[in-house]
Amino acid sequence: MLRRTHTCGELRLPDAGKKVILAGWVQSYRDHGNLVFFDLRDREGLTQLVFDPEVRPEAHRLARTVRCEWVIVAGGTVRPRGDGLENPKLATGQIEVVVDRLEILNMARTPPFETDGESKTNEETRLVHRYIDLRRPEMQQRFKTRHQVTMLVRKYFDENGFWEIETPMLGKSTPEGARDFLVPSRLVRNAFYALPQSPQLFKQILMVSGMDKYFQIVRCFRDEDPRADRQAEFTQIDVEMSFVNSDDVITICERLVARIWKEILGVDVKLPIRRMLYAEALADYGIDRPDLRFDMRLRDVSDLAAQSTFKVFTSTVAGGGVVKGLCAPAGDMLSRADIEKSLTGLVMDYGAKGLSWGKIKMEGATPTFIGGLGKFFTPEQQKQLMLRFDAKEGDVILLVADQEAIANKALAPLRCRLGRDLKLYDPSRFEFVWVVDFPLFEWNEDEKRYDSVHHPFTAPVPEDLLKLETDPLHIRSQAYDIVLNGSEIGGGSIRIHRPEVQQKIFDLLKITREQAESRFGFFLKALDYGTPPHGGIAFGLDRLIMLLTGTDNIRDVIAFPKTQKGQCLMTGAPSEVDAKQLDELNLRVQKHLHAVDPPPGQA
Ligand code: AMO
Repeated sequence: MLRRTHTCGELRLPDAGKKVILAGWVQSYRDHGNLVFFDLRDREGLTQLVFDPEVRPEAHRLARTVRCEWVIVAGGTVRPRGDGLENPKLATGQIEVVVDRLEILNMARTPPFETDGESKTNEETRLVHRYIDLRRPEMQQRFKTRHQVTMLVRKYFDENGFWEIETPMLGKSTPEGARDFLVPSRLVRNAFYALPQSPQLFKQILMVSGMDKYFQIVRCFRDEDPRADRQAEFTQIDVEMSFVNSDDVITICERLVARIWKEILGVDVKLPIRRMLYAEALADYGIDRPDLRFDMRLRDVSDLAAQSTFKVFTSTVAGGGVVKGLCAPAGDMLSRADIEKSLTGLVMDYGAKGLSWGKIKMEGATPTFIGGLGKFFTPEQQKQLMLRFDAKEGDVILLVADQEAIANKALAPLRCRLGRDLKLYDPSRFEFVWVVDFPLFEWNEDEKRYDSVHHPFTAPVPEDLLKLETDPLHIRSQAYDIVLNGSEIGGGSIRIHRPEVQQKIFDLLKITREQAESRFGFFLKALDYGTPPHGGIAFGLDRLIMLLTGTDNIRDVIAFPKTQKGQCLMTGAPSEVDAKQLDELNLRVQKHLHAVDPPPGQA
């Protein structure tokens, strides 16, 4: 086989006259009878090959048999393209290679979709033939970025005194709140490993072990339904440090983020990244991961709504609820149908009972509401409402009346939808924020107990420790989440390092001593043997790469991702296993109850 001398993205005008050998896939061919042209593709780019019967008739003859996606190697001479034949869109567009030797390394079946440009093919077909999908330059670019980021992360942590230490994949359940993937043990009968939801307890134990500063680029597994930014199997950049406070962890992390954005995108991230209190995020944006690329903050107008004649408003406020909403600037782009069907449908999907609205119109010098809201408020109250929102003519005020948590849950996606639809921001902007001062607990009404907002190993703010006995819902935690453009890209905390505090937290979470002992006994024991104060964080690597490469589909940044049903369409996993394998594991499958669904494309 001819050995390649250059990549397909490398040759330029000064290379004219050189003898070169290129290898790759035939992206396209044009047979002009006399001359045959190929665009030859590899990871680095495209180069035009020319076959001229005058130069080498055998190569020309062979070239006429070649088809798209065949793998070839070709030797020839670089020459400038003729006047007016340059392709300015291509890095190699000023030259071509006149081929005098051609070897076909492999023929290919006609691919189910084309490999150039953006894919218009449905995702199912792309996932079945992932190897072809991954040939597309857009995909290759994403994986190049992913590689560059992981390299940079390793370099950065190494430079800062962190050690990369691997933790087990076959372990004991870690309580990150999702369902575990279980792996049956063959050697210990009837026992199961859990795949890690995160290395949380191991990394804390590494601090007890004196490893001081740890990081790991690590696969995590959570058996939850996949979403656009969530996979059951995903990767974290996991970090833990000893003898630190929140500011130390935040500082090391934001410098990493700034470095990634600078080196990968050439974008300067201004440090320190701003911080926002959890309470402020919820009040102004309805969510703990606000998209700060645009303003349009939520406003609580319960006081004004209570004075209206609208029964829904007055009774909600009387019942301890709120009337809260936002003002869409230049919302006159929204029709009545947009508001009453699409936007109302959206808030109702999130549990709200409805969406009240009023469009602002000037009647002479007096602004008035057109639409539902007008009739319930006196002109003076309308003025107050507009003042509250800083509203002007053409704006639309949209309000939800409900319990505060539901109003927030519904208004946050409404705000994001309007921000996008009304083009309130430049989608290429990056707005980072640290959300801090989370509550340690939230109340779980179904189970009548407290739940950790993060995880049970998060340390309370020291001043709030006394409230453990009296007022758990008002204890703040030493947790921090880093949010970018409305997406949570990382989260962590300072940990509890004293066993008695850890035990108290388990009590509030109604984890009995026996349960705590059987689930985390090993961990509590470790805390008893000299634990340094410590804290850390984990970034979602996949989400980071999504934002860096501008895709909103997590599957675009994972080489072999799973579908919504957790299936790999290329390999057909998960699949049935042999009876013998089950026997060895002492397992029996109730076939008639749980037949395996064949993945689409493999049926
Ligand atoms: P947490 O559960 O917040 O914290 O996870 C950290 C980050 O991981 C990303 N992430 C996900 N990405 C894709 N698919 C998923 N299913 C998924 N779940 C989480 C998010 C998130 O911010 N052990 C703690 C960290 C710590 O306290 O140090 C933890 O796992 O970007």
